[in-house]
This record gives sequence, structure tokens and C-alpha cells, in this order.
Amino acid sequence: MKYFAMTEDPSYFDEKKEIEKRVEDLLSRLTLKEKFMLLASHGRLRLYSTKPIKRLNIPSFKMTDGPLGVAMHSSGFKKNTRFPAPVALAASWSRELMHQIGVAMGKEVRAVNRHVLLAPGMNICRTPLNGRTFEYFSEDPFLTKELAIPFVKGVQSQRVAACLKHYAANNQEINRRSSSSEIDERTLHEIYLRAFRGVVKEAAPWAIMTCYNMVNGVYGSENKYLLQDNLMDKWGFVGLVMTDWFASRPIKTTEGCINAGLTLEMPWPSKYKIKSLETAYHSGKFTDEILNDRVRRNIRVMMLTGLFDSPESLPKGDRNTEEHQDLVRRASEEGMVLLKNKGNVLPLHMDNLKSIGVYGSNLSKKFGRILSGGSSAVSPPYEVTPYEGLRKKVKDRVELVASEKPTDVAIIFAGLNHGRGGDSESMDRDSLRLDDRQIREIKKVASENPKTVVCLIAGSPIAMNEWIDDVDAVLMCWYGGNEAGHAIANVLFGEVNPSGKLPLTFPRRLADSPAHITGNPRNYPGDEDKRVYYDEGTFVGYRWFDDKEIEPLFPFGFGLSYTEFKYEELEVNRQSLGKDTDALLVNIDVTNIGECKGSEVVQVYANDVEASVNRPPLELVGFEKIRLDPGETATVAITVKVEDFAFYDITRHDWVIEPGEFKILVGKSSRNILGEAKFSYS
Ligand code: BGC
Repeated sequence: MKYFAMTEDPSYFDEKKEIEKRVEDLLSRLTLKEKFMLLASHGRLRLYSTKPIKRLNIPSFKMTDGPLGVAMHSSGFKKNTRFPAPVALAASWSRELMHQIGVAMGKEVRAVNRHVLLAPGMNICRTPLNGRTFEYFSEDPFLTKELAIPFVKGVQSQRVAACLKHYAANNQEINRRSSSSEIDERTLHEIYLRAFRGVVKEAAPWAIMTCYNMVNGVYGSENKYLLQDNLMDKWGFVGLVMTDWFASRPIKTTEGCINAGLTLEMPWPSKYKIKSLETAYHSGKFTDEILNDRVRRNIRVMMLTGLFDSPESLPKGDRNTEEHQDLVRRASEEGMVLLKNKGNVLPLHMDNLKSIGVYGSNLSKKFGRILSGGSSAVSPPYEVTPYEGLRKKVKDRVELVASEKPTDVAIIFAGLNHGRGGDSESMDRDSLRLDDRQIREIKKVASENPKTVVCLIAGSPIAMNEWIDDVDAVLMCWYGGNEAGHAIANVLFGEVNPSGKLPLTFPRRLADSPAHITGNPRNYPGDEDKRVYYDEGTFVGYRWFDDKEIEPLFPFGFGLSYTEFKYEELEVNRQSLGKDTDALLVNIDVTNIGECKGSEVVQVYANDVEASVNRPPLELVGFEKIRLDPGETATVAITVKVEDFAFYDITRHDWVIEPGEFKILVGKSSRNILGEAKFSYS
């Protein structure tokens, strides 16, 4: 993409040459100063792009925020498709859908002429209060990795770099720029690094973003243990490492960052000012080898994203197409989780209804506003609200009543919003409850109507103890993107049978949740020195609730359907596994015994019966989503990789599987196990 003619045609522009050769060619032509220039974004008005280097025809390298699509503030103020929030996508448990979403987002990034999508967000949901829960997938590292892999592959199929973030242990927003996540080695690897490692190994992402916080006293952008030792040396990451925006500010030295593995400082230089780099370099604080490695990584990603290729040879890109809107609607439908359905009040049947009462602060709300909720905000060209979706669905066949008079059924669109106390970057929620006004409204409407349905529009767990017994049905709708209103109407009226499963435990009360059990600030949000102690260790999410035998409001993996599924004939293909075995095959027959077609997520958990370390009672190791017609049976085959039975051994600083007995537990959720098998590992 040369923007002015050069006298010679350097070989880094030669698309026929191997990428690594082109990278070396360009690297060899750079002066020391140009190398330094490539380590940071220069120029205060370019918060999302690097400065071009004219002498070598190196164009500006541009990024845009995700992960809900292409954000308006970083795409030249363009309106783009607003996809469902990652937590909603995760609730679909569909790898296929994640791939389609990745491809579609990649196309939208291309269409706004950017090279990097700042997504996926992969932090583990440690506390349900984290303001960014909606931007992440799950409390479980296996589910996170399994969904992020196809997403990253999808994005990168469009020659757009996916950027995993925020590496690592950025699990709360309070004090995010100054707190230190204090985590023991095993927990760090087993819970907080595991998904990053899996995605690096299996999807080869081209970029990763460091966290704002410290991990065990060292900031993410100067954390050699996280960057060089694990990410690069152990897992083989060959892409670039950028800071979160201004994350390097509190760091003391330039050499700390470059030696640790930081390759790109955003959005403008602080540690990587040319002068600082020169001083550190000339006083021998970092070597040429290190410098070249860091620059090489940035150039490599520029090459991979086609920065030096002719536009005709690159994927075209497309935004706001009908195909993307259709995908948003399907994804929103697939992620919705039916939590309660007393007396099968749902689905609604048009012919039996004269009037529907519609209530709630989210009934007519549009969520896609610029920077609302923080950097992930996407402003779409249009957004279908729940009210509009219902209106279109019922046409003039059913009256929608927005005033307080009894109707055949009342639907309350409650939940959260982006902003203070809600789902938002840079602040956490202060409570798990809905606000008092919403609770009063739910109770009042429920007492005045024969049937009440609550649709929750929110991106994180909500406590429902105060009102759930008053209502007949609860549908977790999350933030479903710009087609959410249609998707919700389709699920309410049974055109789509809900099949989403919770990617997070919904606790009854905050104090049941592992980061909050002690009520001691040392666990959350941190002590007076802003150290946050992860004392619960590996017992995060359902691992905690299961181990401590605490009854959650709704368990991890839970979700109802309009039909029923029967599980039979669980079989594993081996009774004994060893070092030479790669995988275990789990087969189970699943039959749709209800009246309508539907999808089911078959979940496989493992239990290490004789472990020398304290392991959780259940750990997710496999899942498959299937679709069945009424009466249809399928044998679901789930391949579980043997490495997923391992734990992180702190004596060897590596993953190990101990010889002994393991149980395989198959079910509909972490608390509804319908089949059990055993095998031994030697
Ligand atoms: C967020 C990142 C985001 C970046 C750029 C930061 O505040 O933590 O997730 O990508 O800003 O907008």
C-alpha cells in the first residue's frame, strides 16, 4: 500500500515472498531511530494508530476497539454493527457461532480500514461486580478458550489482527491502574493464564494487550514473567504486545518494558519516547537482539494484516450488511438463557392473548451510544428495542399496554444499563441487586397480573431472591446487539427455542461468591496498599460453589428450554489413558422428548479422584451443542483432550496429570449431572 513511488521496489513489498523474509528485509533497512519510532504510537491526535514512516513507505498501522463490534470512537466516527456482548455470545456455547461472529467483525474492521481489532476480552469473571463482566466470556478458562479460539481464527481470516486483552488478571475495575492482583503460581496458571495460553497455542493470535494492574507487584507491561517467559518463550507467541491505553505511565523504566517483552506503547510514548530509548540503549540497558525482536514482532503483524500489500489482494471488508444483522439476531437468540418458566408460561401464544402489559426501564432503551459503557461501545446505524421488537411481532393482533392495567401477561424489561452502578468500564457495580425502584415495579406488576415475565437486559449476574418467587418466568437477554428487540420477541413467542446456558454462576447473594465471602477488603477490592489477594485460589466460580456446597441461584451451565432432553448410554472409549493417549472420546445418546425442536449443550466435567493437590469437584473439559427435532436421538461424541485433565504443578512449574482415577461427569449443567464414567491415568 505504497503512498508514494520509490526508486527501487524493496522486497518487503513483494507479496509473493514469504512473510518472514519480507519482515527481515524491512528490519534490515531501518535506522536505529526508525526502530524506536516503531515501538510506540506517536502523535497526540492519533489515539488508535501509529505514525507512518515516509522514507520507507511504512503506512500508519490502525486499530479499533471491540469487543462488541467496531467502536465508533476508533473508526472515524462510523456507525457499525453492534454485536451481542461477549458474555451473551459465550452463553451460546457455540464454537460455530463464534467463528461466524469473528469473520463478520473482521469484515467490519476491514471496511473501516483498520488492521487490529482490540478483542477478544478474555479475563476471567472472578467477581460478579466487575464492571466489564459483559465484555468477557466466563468464569471458566476452558469455556473462555474454546470460544475465543474460533473467534480469533474468524477475525484473522480477514487479515485483521485479533488482540487478546487484558493480559493478565485484570479482574476488577476499581483501582485498575494501581492495584496488584496477588495470586499464587498455580492459580495464576490454572485460572487466569490458561485461556490466554490455549488461544495462543491453538489460534496463533497476532496481538495481545497488557493489563493496567500489577500482577504480584509488577505491572503487566513490564512483567517479564508474563510476557517473555510464559507468553513468548513457553507458549510460542510470535505477535506484538501492546499496552492498554496509558498502562505504561506508572512504570519506572524503559528497559523494564522492553526487556520484559513490550513491543508497542499506546496511545503515545511515555517509556518509549525516542530520547528515553536512546539513553537506555546507549547505556547498554537492552541489547540489539531484544530491540530487533520487539520491532520484528510489530512489523510481522503489519505484514500479516496486509499493510504492505496491494488493496486488491486483501479481503474486501463489509459493514452493516443484511448478513451481519441476521447474524446479530441469531447470535442474540442463541445466547438468551431461560432461567425460570413456571407452568410453561413461555412461549407466548398469539391466539390466546388479547393484551400484553409492557414495563421496565429497559423496554425502550437503546444501548449503543458512543463510549457508553466505555471503550467497547459500538453505535449501530439502528437498534431494535424490546418494545419495537414486540410491536412488530404482534402487529395489531395483540394489544401492547404500557399503562398499569391488568393484562393477560405482563412483561417487565428490567436489568442494568451502561454507566454508574451498571455494566461499565473503569467502575464496578456496587451491588448484585437491581435498584429498589425496579424491584418495587416487579413486585407490583406481579401482584396485579395473572402472569408475569421478567426479561433481564444486563451483562452480569443479578441477585433475584427478593422477587423471583413473585414472577412466572425469567429470561436472561443480556445485551443482544442492534437486533436484540427482534431476537427477544422471537424467543418470547417460541419461534426460537432458547438454548443459552449460563457462562457464569448467578449467586443468591454477593457474600456467597468467592471474592466476597470474607467481606474483607483484602480479597476485594484490595487492602490499603491496593493489593487484591486471590485467597480463594483456583476455586473461582462454580469451582467454589461446588467445593463449599453453596447453593447458587442458578449454576454455571444452566439454562431451560421449551423442550426436554433425555440423556442415556454414556460411554467412554477407554478405561485407561497414558502419556501416549491424546484424547478421550465421550459418547452419550441425547433424545429430544418434548414437543418442539431445540438445541442442547451437552457438558462434560472431570473430577480428579486421587489428586495430591486440592482440586475442584468439577472442571469443565468438553461440551458440544446439538440441535434435535422432537423424538430425535443423536449420539453426541465429545472429544476431551488428555491435557485438559492436568493441573499446574508448582514444583515443576508445568502442567501435569497425576496417575490415578478420574471421573467423567456428563450433564445439562454443573449441577445437573446425568451420567458418570471412570478411567484411570497411568
Ligand atoms: C481499555 C481497553 C481498550 C483501550 C483503547 C482502555 O481503557 O481498557 O480495553 O481497548 O482503552 O480504547
